[in-house]
Parts: sequence; C-alpha cells; structure tokens
Amino acid sequence: MPVPSLLCEIISAAPEETLAAGEHFAAALRLGSVVALRGGLGVGKTCFVKGLARGLNIKEEITSPTYTIVAEYAGTFPLYHIDVYRLNSDDDFDNLGISELFDRGITVIEWSERIPKSIPLDAAIVEIDIITDGKRRIRWIKTA
Ligand SMILES: Nc1ncnc2c1ncn2[C@@H]1O[C@H](COP(=O)(O)OP(=O)(O)OP(=O)(O)O)[C@@H](O)[C@H]1O
Ligand SMILES: [Mg+2]
Repeated sequence: MPVPSLLCEIISAAPEETLAAGEHFAAALRLGSVVALRGGLGVGKTCFVKGLARGLNIKEEITSPTYTIVAEYAGTFPLYHIDVYRLNSDDDFDNLGISELFDRGITVIEWSERIPKSIPLDAAIVEIDIITDGKRRIRWIKTA
C-alpha cells in the first residue's frame, strides 16, 4: 500500500494566494506531468489551475471544463485541464481515451478522486480543503 507523504502545505487566505500557489507549483512541472487535484465543491481547484496556467505563460482565460470534460490551452507546454465531476467511474474515463493526452503536455485533473485507477502512480497530488475562516489549506502530497 503506498504511503502518502506531505511535500508542501500552504494556507491560502484569498483567491489571489491560491493563484500564486498554482503559479509557483507550475515551476515543478515538466512535459508529461499529471496533477491530480482533490477537494470538494468550491474549494478552489479551478482557481489553483488558473494560477498554474499563469505559471505556464498561458494568456487565455481558464474556465471550468465541467461540461466539456477537457480543455486545452497553449503555453510553455500544452495544458490539458480536465474536470471529471460528471463522470462516474474509471471506465467512463477510459472510454473517453483522455489518458492518451498525458504524454503530450501537462495535465491537471479536477475531482481526480473519482477516477483513482486512471491516475498515474507518479502523479502529483494536490489536495485542497477549507479550514477556519474560509481559508484554504493546499497540500502537495506524494505517494511512494
Ligand atoms: N483562499 C481561497 N482560494 C481559492 N478560492 C477562494 C478562496 N477564498 C474564497 N474563494 C472562493 O472560492 C471559490 C472557488 O471556486 P473554484 O471554482 O476555484 O472552486 P472549485 O474547487 O474548482 O469548484 P468546483 O468544485 O465547482 O469545480 C471562488 O468563488 C473563490 O472566490
Ligand atoms: Mg472547478
């Protein structure tokens, strides 16, 4: 059973701080990186992705791909922003063939906990939750 370890924890008091966290995080990514975001409704996952996009020099505005499932943006690397909220299982994800994109750019997946088997073992896991006063705790976790 993989043992999770904590690589980094940030407390964000405002959306701009979550954006900044995503922007800094982008520096750790390279071609083929997959970022699995975890966290409930409205915790700030898309906000984090907006920062990540800023870190990848993407000028286009990031919008939530809840209905389209995948959105692609051109930057330092192509960014594939995926939201699997509307999928029910790993099988749904498999049928869409999305994992073929992983090697072609940087992939970030909202609601990744819904498709646990589809997340590569070496993916970066970023978990966001809401703590006191509406602040967000952003944790970068690694399983090994
Ligand atoms: N510290 C914070 N970091 C990020 N968002 C915050 C923070 N404080 C308040 N917010 C608000 O929380 C909301 C987060 O929305 P966002 O769409 O990023 O969440 P999400 O996790 O992607 O939601 P969904 O589950 O619908 O995909 C925004 O309205 C934002 O203004
Ligand atoms: Mg979202």
